[in-house]
Amino acid sequence: MTTAPLPDQLTATPTGDLEPHHAEMIAATLPLVGANIDAITTEFYRRLFADHPELLRNLFNRGNQAQGAQQRALAASIATFATHLIDPELEHPAVLVGRIGHKHASLGVTADQYPIVHTHLFAAIVEVLGAETVTPDVAAAWDRVYWLMAETLIDLERRLYADAGVGAGDVFRRARVVGRTDDPSGTVAVTVVATSESFPDFVPGQYISVGVTLPDGARQIRQYSLINTPGRGELTFAVRPVAATTDGPAGEVSTHIGERVSVGDLLDVSIPFGDLPVGSIGSRPLVLISAGIGITPMIGILEHLAIHAPGCPVQVLHADRSVRSHPLRARQQELMAQLPGGSLDLWYEETGDAADTGVHGGQLQMAGIPLDDSADVYLCGNNGFVQSVRNQLLDRGVAPERLHSELFSPDDWLLA
Ligand SMILES: Cc1cc2nc3c(=O)[nH]c(=O)nc-3n(C[C@H](O)[C@H](O)[C@H](O)COP(=O)(O)OP(=O)(O)OC[C@H]3O[C@@H](n4cnc5c(N)ncnc54)[C@H](O)[C@@H]3O)c2cc1C
Ligand code: HEM
Repeated sequence: MTTAPLPDQLTATPTGDLEPHHAEMIAATLPLVGANIDAITTEFYRRLFADHPELLRNLFNRGNQAQGAQQRALAASIATFATHLIDPELEHPAVLVGRIGHKHASLGVTADQYPIVHTHLFAAIVEVLGAETVTPDVAAAWDRVYWLMAETLIDLERRLYADAGVGAGDVFRRARVVGRTDDPSGTVAVTVVATSESFPDFVPGQYISVGVTLPDGARQIRQYSLINTPGRGELTFAVRPVAATTDGPAGEVSTHIGERVSVGDLLDVSIPFGDLPVGSIGSRPLVLISAGIGITPMIGILEHLAIHAPGCPVQVLHADRSVRSHPLRARQQELMAQLPGGSLDLWYEETGDAADTGVHGGQLQMAGIPLDDSADVYLCGNNGFVQSVRNQLLDRGVAPERLHSELFSPDDWLLA
């Protein structure tokens, strides 16, 4: 079975030390690099994609690039890692490294690609800060930070590939769609089986990468959380098509899957990855908090509980715009009915049409919701929702080590 490494396994990963003179140089230049890091990463991706257009067409998420989300994520991750290196007393950025490593592994990133990123990142640093600022000493210190981070990621990704029993980067399988269910919310549940080698098993809360070829020939990849129970050779994921708004076009891959994928079609699907630490799930009380399509990892966890730990106390809190937009609502209710120790609280911003009694109006607020002090709390939704609920829980004294989040967009707030 594929198991998600826990953050404390990562803290044992030797990252090497930053030599004192490099640490001084990083401490002195971190504010300057920090102040310019958006410009540096924007220039970095411009150079990277000019030299390797295939990476933007076929590997990177061009929706994230258009929105700048990935730039901010890369910037935040490097600055967070550098900050830890110059002050090892700070908490090890294990969650950050775990999240990036699992994402990279689900995309098949390999060690030989790190020098390419290095070349363009350092050219961008010199371009933005100027050669007079990036002296050889400054360059050497940041070079050391880059490679310490890269080696940490490469080491984790190597272990993930080895644990899954695949060659480095060999994560995609041709998979046939054997089921498609259209949920009343507009979300589409898709079940696939591999056409040749079978998929390794997964743990609840993990996700796959799905690659589709779009009408312009680009192969775009997105991640989708698994919502079925492991052990049956099938993978089921649920996709909520992202509609066009006045702020942006329709989502490329979700719309493609919603409009074009049907039973019998072939997709490129990765083996499962994801580091939500659910190793001992069911042995302690749980609180599952989600918003919108962030319900998917929670459905995976509830499916697991219904079979393996139906007596586990589980408190489910879900927020949505309305009863009609609530994805997988019927399945959530069926699963709750199989969990005698479970409770369900719903928040709908538009309550007028809610068929349920006891639905709260407005946005999810933790105030007044009793919580079990010993529970593990899992959070998933858009970044703003996760950050807001996380802050509310921390303010209430919930220990940070009991809070576990999954984000569906690149994480740009680790520095917060
Ligand atoms: C670990 C993980 C698990 C996930 N699990 C699920 C899941 O279970 N179910 C699910 O539905 N999703 C899930 N997601 C999200 C999913 O991976 C996709 O991000 C989502 O489906 C949207 O992809 P898309 O290709 O349709 O949209 P994209 O094309 O990537 O667009 C995303 C957003 O960017 C905007 N955008 C694109 N181009 C521009 C532009 N030029 N200007 C302005 N705005 C622009 C779009 O309007 C849209 O709002 C998960 C993500 C992660 C990381
Ligand atoms: C030290 C070097 C690197 C760092 C610090 C880094 C950092 C990151 C971060 C922070 C994310 C976003 C994770 C998330 O929150 O979802 C990410 C995603 C990603 N990385 Fe890296 N990365 C590095 C090297 C590489 C390399 C060598 C490649 C391969 C060319 C690569 C390809 C990608 C891709 C394709 C994504 C997903 C992009 C998206 O979905 O928008 N990265 N990386």
